[in-house]
Amino acid sequence: MENTDWLVQDDGSCIACEIPNNWEWSEKPYRLYRFLTDLEDIIETVEDDRQRLEAIRPLVRRLLTSSYWLQGEYREPNPETGWSVLMLYDEIDFPLTVQTVVWEPKKVSPIHNHATWGVVALISGEEKNTFWQRSGDRENRDRIEKVGEKILLPGDIISFTADAIHSVEAISEEPTISFNLYGETNYQQRFEFDIQNHSAKNF
Ligand SMILES: [Fe+2]
Repeated sequence: MENTDWLVQDDGSCIACEIPNNWEWSEKPYRLYRFLTDLEDIIETVEDDRQRLEAIRPLVRRLLTSSYWLQGEYREPNPETGWSVLMLYDEIDFPLTVQTVVWEPKKVSPIHNHATWGVVALISGEEKNTFWQRSGDRENRDRIEKVGEKILLPGDIISFTADAIHSVEAISEEPTISFNLYGETNYQQRFEFDIQNHSAKNF
């Protein structure tokens, strides 16, 4: 099946993005340190988040396709929480976090935004992403409503603008493993939403 690149925007809309097919594929694996160098160049030269994501998605696809190393870099889920994070790169004062995340089958994440740009590539398993949009009024400023969903298969790449709100559910029989990249989180603007009480809190 054809893989797809997606962009989820602040209003929860999810649009398909063109996958450039003009890579000069080389026999050599695209290693993490080269990927990080290319990312640094993009972060330094491209200010706009959407343009950054457009530039970063193909690099993630290249890494995913070309680096076998990545397939085995994850941590077994914590039995208590049902998920795990393996940090592959995180440096103070550099606006980038690179990690692999594993979710046990049937686990559902809280509803949240990331308050920074993000790119998630599915390595294995099947993951349902649900998208939400703010629909608050004066009484319930943090009310949200569901606006869509998308099932991701291995090789699919989904990217998010800073205020895009989503939740994820591992829907396959085996755990889901994903490769996740985020920019610099603005913690004051990162929220976990409660749809029963129409409230949100920082996390
Ligand atoms: Fe997320």
